[in-house]
Amino acid sequence: MPHRAPGSPHHDQTSYLSGRQIRYYRPTGSPDVRRLIDDGFQAFNAARLSEACHIFSEKMLRPEHDTTIGLTVAGALTPAGLGGCMIELMERGLVDFVISTGANLYHDLHYALNFTLHRGTPFLDDRDLYEKGVIRIYDVLFPADVLLETDSYIRDFLARKDRDLGGPLSSADLHYALGLDLIEKCPGCEEHSVVARAAACGVPIYTSSPGDSSIGMNVAYHELMNGGRVVIDPNRDVNEVCAIILAGKKNGCVILGGGSPKNFYLQGQPTLWEVYGIPKGGNDYFIQFTTDQVVWGGLSGATPSEAVSWGKVNPGVLPDTVVSYCDSTIAFPLFCEYAVGSPNGRRPRRGLLHQRAGLVADLLRQAKARAR
Ligand SMILES: NC(=O)c1ccc[n+]([C@@H]2O[C@H](COP(=O)([O-])OP(=O)(O)OC[C@H]3O[C@@H](n4cnc5c(N)ncnc54)[C@H](O)[C@@H]3O)[C@@H](O)[C@H]2O)c1
Repeated sequence: MPHRAPGSPHHDQTSYLSGRQIRYYRPTGSPDVRRLIDDGFQAFNAARLSEACHIFSEKMLRPEHDTTIGLTVAGALTPAGLGGCMIELMERGLVDFVISTGANLYHDLHYALNFTLHRGTPFLDDRDLYEKGVIRIYDVLFPADVLLETDSYIRDFLARKDRDLGGPLSSADLHYALGLDLIEKCPGCEEHSVVARAAACGVPIYTSSPGDSSIGMNVAYHELMNGGRVVIDPNRDVNEVCAIILAGKKNGCVILGGGSPKNFYLQGQPTLWEVYGIPKGGNDYFIQFTTDQVVWGGLSGATPSEAVSWGKVNPGVLPDTVVSYCDSTIAFPLFCEYAVGSPNGRRPRRGLLHQRAGLVADLLRQAKARAR
């Protein structure tokens, strides 16, 4: 192990790591959960969650609407076991592309590589955790070695693939290559890894700030220490997301939390009208689960109504937008149960991962025509 881990090997971590293993929960479309959401969630944020379920299942997923759906992911959701919900949605064609913080993708790799995260409690002495080499994400606990081993895998992957990946690439390219490598190295891991499953399903995964996670940290290491040539080019991400949105007959999003993934999705519409001069008309559907408030002026808490003024959301569709003020770790599994159990709970997969070059070429063609 090349680096110092917090704690040392002789410390006993077992008292902290005796909680049950966190596993990815896969929604099955439970009729009881659907009944609760339809009949029991009647007011306040329960009703907003119910409304979100109806907008998604009955409007966004309606076959004739042919909605291109983006899922944005912030907050520590894969460490909390929510990757199974993402896998189920991708597998069923219910989301077409994903924009995530790097952290959620990095922590997903622990599951792919068969490391164990444990249920715990937030009421612990963090100085003792540090001494014993135990990492805490609120009440999720795991050994620091999990970080070091995952980092070591990423560096090994980059060294092996540098020749193929060398040069500027979009974050979707990097995550696709990672997913394929995981499937090759750990067969079957697409059952419990978002990154691997996305590669298998043809779902592009973008990250809005490539340097801001342990994946980005190891890409930086690879460049400095190995003279590696793998460079994430954010321009490619911006143009690919923009091209995907341009190609959508209707566009809709499910926003978990907020943060930079939320804007990275929503800015697609202004990139079209404000920068490329292509009026697309704004997003058609908008669903957000968040604990953020609008009153601070930040983007995470900004409402769909505010997004109308930016041309991010079509002014005519406000009834098809909803913000449910809930913890995503509660709301998202319920939302997915509802969607999976709905009559529209499976769509043909769009396979956007393999169409990106053509979509970007079309964006370029349309933008050049406008520039004349
Ligand atoms: N080592 C790593 O890989 C690592 C680890 C952690 C974070 N990070 C990085 O730190 C940055 C911050 O990540 P973050 O995900 O904590 O973003 P964040 O703290 O900016 O959260 C994003 C938004 O989501 C909301 N949110 C968070 N959890 C929620 C929940 N359970 N329910 C509803 N809303 C919720 C927050 O209020 C916030 O507005 C990211 O860029 C990430 O990649 C990296």
